[in-house]
Amino acid sequence: MSSPVCIPPPLIGTSTTSAIGQPLVIGGVGLTTNLLLAPIANYCDLAFRLTCRDWGGVGLACTDLLSPQGLLRGSAASLDLARTNAEDKPVGMQLYGADPGIMAEGARWAADHGATIVDINMGCPVDKVCKKDGGSKLMCDVPNAIRIAEAVRAALPDTVPLTAKMRLGWSEQDCQDGVAGRLALGLVGVGVSAITVHGRTTEMKFRGDCRREDIARVVRTVKDRHPRVPVIGNGDVKTAQDAVDMMADTGCDGVMIGRGALSTPWIFRDAWALQTLGVVPPEPSEEDKLDIVRTFFDRMLEYRGEHYAMNHIRRRISWFAKRINGGHCRPLKEAIRTAEEPEAVYAALDDWSFGLLDSSS
Ligand SMILES: Cc1cc2nc3c(=O)[nH]c(=O)nc-3n(C[C@H](O)[C@H](O)[C@H](O)COP(=O)(O)O)c2cc1C
Repeated sequence: MSSPVCIPPPLIGTSTTSAIGQPLVIGGVGLTTNLLLAPIANYCDLAFRLTCRDWGGVGLACTDLLSPQGLLRGSAASLDLARTNAEDKPVGMQLYGADPGIMAEGARWAADHGATIVDINMGCPVDKVCKKDGGSKLMCDVPNAIRIAEAVRAALPDTVPLTAKMRLGWSEQDCQDGVAGRLALGLVGVGVSAITVHGRTTEMKFRGDCRREDIARVVRTVKDRHPRVPVIGNGDVKTAQDAVDMMADTGCDGVMIGRGALSTPWIFRDAWALQTLGVVPPEPSEEDKLDIVRTFFDRMLEYRGEHYAMNHIRRRISWFAKRINGGHCRPLKEAIRTAEEPEAVYAALDDWSFGLLDSSS
């Protein structure tokens, strides 16, 4: 079933040439689309990034936030999170922290271990990260955030672009005062090649609606001085149409998608097709959706081992289930949540596929 094209003119953004349908170029790196898979701590590891890439449309996927200290120490947890491979390209590696020297060393490590792009996390609202002055706490000290970016940029080879992901500011007042725009300009001034803006303040965490009008303000601030530096909009994009609307409403050059991809790994394919062809392709078949779960589980087993894979598939099935049989697949979810070994996960998927589980609930 194809949806009709619905690409509205810009409402809020001021960009005269729309970036809809234009692949992004970040630093010297050309992407195949303008769509990015967001970092989501504990979710967007190699197994999931490849699952989204299988369906096309992913211009860039990013690791979850990485501790530079962990990488430099060679901690197993950090190395697992940073794991990438030849199919997982181009890939961003995201670092968090507040010490310019350590962030710079971490960035060099990332460049040496397969990062196409390095990103600095300036948006994480979680206490554990902010208490150490990292994540969105960096937005409270703009000069230090810029110093960090400058040190990281200097440590990276010219071929590896640096990007930053931020929020609208820590507080409503910061947002009104245009902190995100000021920070973005300062970052571009020291060589940051693209800015991603999540349309909430830190105090909002993930509550309330993503504020496109405030993303648009950051876009305008950057574009007025640096028309060629991409600004990427992020927040609450759950459908292909949402992605197009985000671009039209804010004038942003690309869209980063997080939670929408957890249930719909083919959302990038859809959003790119809508931008370039004007239609959303037919939804994957029910068997394809079960294959997505099988392949994702295979990969988790391969890359992270049985303990991790079992824990994660029990949690992740709820996300995939939103799109299986119109969300009506409780017996499948229950069978996977209560599975005790990998064979039981595969058996549940097969049973569902052969109609051996009650599909009415
Ligand atoms: C559980 C969770 C973990 C997240 N982890 C990260 C992270 O590691 N790095 C980061 O920059 N953003 C992180 N985010 C924010 C997402 O990248 C994204 O900005 C946010 O989910 C809004 O986009 P969405 O509505 O498309 O999901 C996280 C969000 C959630 C819900």
